[in-house]
Amino acid sequence: MYILANWKNKLSSESSKRLAEGIYSRLVHQYLNIEIVIFPDDISLLGVKSILDSLSIVKIGAQDGPMDKTSSLTGSISASNLSKFCDYVLLGHSERRAILGETNEMVALKATEAIELGLVPVICVTKGNGTAFDPYSGIKAQLESIHDHIRRQGKYLIAYEPTDAIGTGISADTEEVKNTAETIRKMVSAIQGSSDIPVLYGGSVNAKNVSSFLSLEGIDGVLVGGESLTVDSFLKIVKKASDPQNLK
Ligand code: PGA
Repeated sequence: MYILANWKNKLSSESSKRLAEGIYSRLVHQYLNIEIVIFPDDISLLGVKSILDSLSIVKIGAQDGPMDKTSSLTGSISASNLSKFCDYVLLGHSERRAILGETNEMVALKATEAIELGLVPVICVTKGNGTAFDPYSGIKAQLESIHDHIRRQGKYLIAYEPTDAIGTGISADTEEVKNTAETIRKMVSAIQGSSDIPVLYGGSVNAKNVSSFLSLEGIDGVLVGGESLTVDSFLKIVKKASDPQNLK
């Protein structure tokens, strides 16, 4: 079970360190079967990693990765920093797709590089460009392009994040999430012959609703934005996730 914390660009490096210290000092239990991944902004990566390094259930991720590790790209994190300080990389978040125009092709190239660097890509997908006739066509295109580019087999995670649930305080309908997760699994299975890819839900997850998503068939974790920004709200989510009913 995965609990991912997407800190976006919401915290200064001092606040990021304070939050990491709070998590470190209060994450007293060894929660079985839970992997927590923290995604700070690039400038806070090193500080947060050094605070949380000794907690085996906590991993660190970057919020984006390079498309090509050798060519120059101003504004991008270096491949060596990425592989030295991170275990995971978040790719194709809908904010980047919408604001920066990131395409499926770009996300797929980044996923390929991430896998070559030994990182686990978390590939965010949305139904955004689906049609009324086929609401899943957008997700299908996002999944197919990933497969075309991942030449070397590697582990990756899919995070389904409906755009109207992100940052709005209104999470998606659980039945819709369950059906979409099932469709994602079928698509992945048809594309690569195995449905053994963890599928996560993200969008206004909080301590009150997290169990309703984690208990769904086919959901292996959550990607949390706003509610991961304070120690209290985040650890409440982790605690709920550790309820035996949510551990599959
Ligand atoms: P939210 O963000 O939990 O604040 O909706 C989720 C995300 O953007 O990954």
